[in-house]
Amino acid sequence: MSSAGENENLGKTLPTGAGEAASRAEGAFPPGGGGPRNGKKSSGPPPLEAEDLTVAYDDNPPLLEHVTFTAEKGEILGILGPSGCGKSSLLRHLLGLEPLRAGKVKICGEDIFREGEASLNRARRKFGVMYQSGALFGDLNLLENVAMPLIEYTNLEPDLILAAATLKLSLVGLAGSGHLSPAEISGGMRKRAAIARALALEPELLFLDEPGAGLDPVTARELDRLIVTLARGLDVSFVVVTHELRSIMRVVDRAILLDKTVRGIADSGTPQYLSRESTSPGAAAFFLRDESD
Ligand SMILES: Nc1ncnc2c1ncn2[C@@H]1O[C@H](COP(=O)(O)OP(=O)(O)O)[C@@H](O)[C@H]1O
Ligand SMILES: [Mg+2]
Repeated sequence: MSSAGENENLGKTLPTGAGEAASRAEGAFPPGGGGPRNGKKSSGPPPLEAEDLTVAYDDNPPLLEHVTFTAEKGEILGILGPSGCGKSSLLRHLLGLEPLRAGKVKICGEDIFREGEASLNRARRKFGVMYQSGALFGDLNLLENVAMPLIEYTNLEPDLILAAATLKLSLVGLAGSGHLSPAEISGGMRKRAAIARALALEPELLFLDEPGAGLDPVTARELDRLIVTLARGLDVSFVVVTHELRSIMRVVDRAILLDKTVRGIADSGTPQYLSRESTSPGAAAFFLRDESD
């Protein structure tokens, strides 16, 4: 990791007032949402495959079993379910943060545990993550936060790191804000900065855990628009863990619905299908609940 001094220099050379491209990109958000993204034909293996996965901690009974699903290229896949059903736990298993009791996780066709740390590290270069807390480094400004993965994982010259980090901030509508510290900005801006950091290494796949958590409804809607804009514009696949109904209907193309009582996937499909047509009791309970709970 580079010294704090080097990071400070990055922040001082940040160009300001370059937010127009990002605003234009957001303006292109089409009404309605949903549907396949950007029309590009997928090639190669899917960005994410889970095969007969067991989600369990230590010697405890499994939270989920026989979890099998795929995230296709360019789509926004939702991992849905009520609080406590195991969404974040599934995410931790997909990210290789927990040992697998059974099953397989493949990132871009490669089993993340096939060759131990080596395959895990290769996989980690291909995905970005925004955790529920969205935690940024409090002692670094936004530009330094976004630059950090580039400093750690690439051999790029500092001026290229600066350019790449500046571009990522522009993509999330934060051009001109790179000099600010996380404490100086709103919750919505912090989430955007965390997404910019997750995009730093140009991942093929981005995992977001409850992106709207802690945001007011208007800010949550803006963040959803950004997620759709990025998924369409960057050809990045998104896996979004969420239980917020409005957000699900705005953002998600296709989803798996987790259910504690079946200890696994209750049903899967588009949000429209899951909310209106699914005969799974889990789907009815999930989609018909009071949003204010
Ligand atoms: N590290 C852990 N060790 C043991 N149990 C855990 C751990 N993390 C979460 N759990 C348990 O797993 C269950 C599901 O939690 P979680 O995956 O956070 O659900 P969700 O994200 O759907 O709200 C909860 O009962 C929680 O207490
Ligand atoms: Mg969670």
